[in-house]
Amino acid sequence: MAKKVAIIGAGVSGLTSIKGCLEEGLEPTCFEQSSDIGGLWRFTEKVEENRASIYNSVVTNSSKEMSCFSDFPMPDHFPNFLHNSKFLEYLRLYAKHFGLLKYIRFKTTVISLEKSQDYTTTGQWTMVTETDGKQESFIFDAVMICTGHQIEAYTPVESFPGFEKFRGNYFHSRNYKNPDGFNGKTVVIIGMGNSAADIAVEICRKAKKVFLSTRGGTWVMSRVYDNGYPWDTIFHTRFNDVIRNSVPWFLLQWMTERKMNQWFSHENYGLLPRNRSLMKEPVFNDDLPSRILCGAVMVKPLIKEFTESSVIFEDGTVEENVDIAIFATGYTVAFPFLDKSVIKVEDNRVPLYKHVFPLHLEKPTLAVIGLIQPLGPIMPTAELQARWATRVFKGLSLLPSESTMVADTTRRNEKRIKWFGTSRSQSIQTDFIEYLDELAALTGAKPNLLTLLLRDPKLALTIFFGPCSPFQFRLMGPGKWAGARNAILTQTQRIIKPTKTRTVGNSSSNALLSLLKILGFLALLVAVFLSIGQR
Ligand SMILES: Cc1cc2nc3c(=O)[nH]c(=O)nc-3n(C[C@H](O)[C@H](O)[C@H](O)COP(=O)(O)OP(=O)(O)OC[C@H]3O[C@@H](n4cnc5c(N)ncnc54)[C@H](O)[C@@H]3O)c2cc1C
Ligand SMILES: *[C@@H]1O[C@H](CO)[C@@H](O)[C@H](O)[C@H]1NC(C)=O
Ligand SMILES: *[C@@H]1O[C@H](CO)[C@@H](O)[C@H](O)[C@H]1NC(C)=O
Ligand SMILES: *[C@@H]1O[C@H](CO)[C@@H](O)[C@H](O)[C@H]1NC(C)=O
Repeated sequence: MAKKVAIIGAGVSGLTSIKGCLEEGLEPTCFEQSSDIGGLWRFTEKVEENRASIYNSVVTNSSKEMSCFSDFPMPDHFPNFLHNSKFLEYLRLYAKHFGLLKYIRFKTTVISLEKSQDYTTTGQWTMVTETDGKQESFIFDAVMICTGHQIEAYTPVESFPGFEKFRGNYFHSRNYKNPDGFNGKTVVIIGMGNSAADIAVEICRKAKKVFLSTRGGTWVMSRVYDNGYPWDTIFHTRFNDVIRNSVPWFLLQWMTERKMNQWFSHENYGLLPRNRSLMKEPVFNDDLPSRILCGAVMVKPLIKEFTESSVIFEDGTVEENVDIAIFATGYTVAFPFLDKSVIKVEDNRVPLYKHVFPLHLEKPTLAVIGLIQPLGPIMPTAELQARWATRVFKGLSLLPSESTMVADTTRRNEKRIKWFGTSRSQSIQTDFIEYLDELAALTGAKPNLLTLLLRDPKLALTIFFGPCSPFQFRLMGPGKWAGARNAILTQTQRIIKPTKTRTVGNSSSNALLSLLKILGFLALLVAVFLSIGQR
């Protein structure tokens, strides 16, 4: 009999988890508390409890060739960075194409999840849901938690002395929808993530003054990268990853700083990250430097104190008559329906084996999908997590002993701190390609470059030097998709199509560069062979 799997949430992670179950012949039932799919990507004017809330102008910061699911490329006319409504459209196409909607029970909130009475033998879970005030109880063989991590706003007002005296308006970025009502206002935005920067450049067109108050600073990157390609299609290549992982740390740091400062000097703009040894997640904003240059946004240090109408910054400067303070200070991870003995959140960190499985459970029948902040898009990441988890549920992939899982999780956390630091906002940060490969190896879907090079050199070179797009994980192994090769070889066309809306002449192709690339690749292969030989 097919195993029954419950999926909580019908956002990006939930949808791909349904798909993962179907691929493995499991029987999914998805519970979604709202009335529609999309999760975070479904914009509404009103903030809903228990669902992430975005502002009207949110545009993806990861590009379409990287942010799709591995067997469903985005339509070629879609722009490279998508407005939230367009990304939702893609999710609808995905759900329709694979017939996922019929497995979803809408307006149904999961209110409790606990081990069933005979959990120790069966690994089953008891779940209680609520629909229109009516409760229902279910037993499931396995559960996938896909509730996201942008629901519970983190608003640390108590860490600001004098805040209780402040007479201005204040709210969390979760409640920001559009710049209406900011005409002539003086606004202080606390935080320096993507939301803080987006809100600053948007309201500064109407507001009188906008201040961005940051403790640690940040690197600001443009979505437009080398030769005008979307940043992630150049940054996230296997070739670049090999370089990043093989050069000494100090050199990597130097290279990163040089690259980041090519556009503008982060020092002169007051944005330079305080701890420069960290690869803290960058902010993607094409307008921020120009808004700072025009004096419309001013970067400030942390706020030391609030008074009735003013703020005092840590450098001693005072801003009088502040009307509004916006806390773009992130979120707290929470599982309100789950007992703390199952998953314990500490310092906003969630101890999970490879970011998916709780460490101290007797049976591998509970998985958390999408609770991660990779340096790239979450869609292919959540998808591979789901593909792995469903194979674990089926017993096709086994988890190691508890002590091995704990050791692995500790090691991973140390590496995260080295790369991304201890800041609260980076608590679930991880690298991208390496993590995808790790999951793919567990499901048998990791592309084998050496065999590919012999069989299909053109494809192998594109995989190595081109964008590490999700289709790479559908070339071999379980879940193989016949369209993957073509999707990889045509991705550049899909990148260019939506921008080249006026036909212009051809430029000559650079044969020398291609030759150099091939030579570089061969040299690398030799190096790989040598290092394998040495083991
Ligand atoms: C402004 C912003 C921009 C972003 N841009 C990008 C980007 O460009 N690229 C990228 O990769 N990521 C981006 N992200 C990250 C984002 O988290 C992911 O893209 C993605 O939305 C995560 O999907 P999810 O399914 O895990 O969670 P969500 O989209 O939050 O979906 C969770 C679902 O679970 C439901 N739910 C919650 N609790 C319950 C319950 N108890 N019972 C039943 N249902 C429940 C909710 O209603 C919701 O539908 C962005 C995030 C923000 C805030
Ligand atoms: C894109 O922005 C969201 C929201 O701030 C963030 O969670 C995510 O990590 C960002 N992605 C990248 C690749 O920076
Ligand atoms: C910078 O971060 C590294 C790694 O987390 C840490 O060891 C170092 O002490 C930090 N330096 C400062 C000045 O905070
Ligand atoms: C551009 O190149 C293609 C093939 O290389 C050719 O068919 C086409 O005619 C060229 N167009 C122009 C405007 O030169």
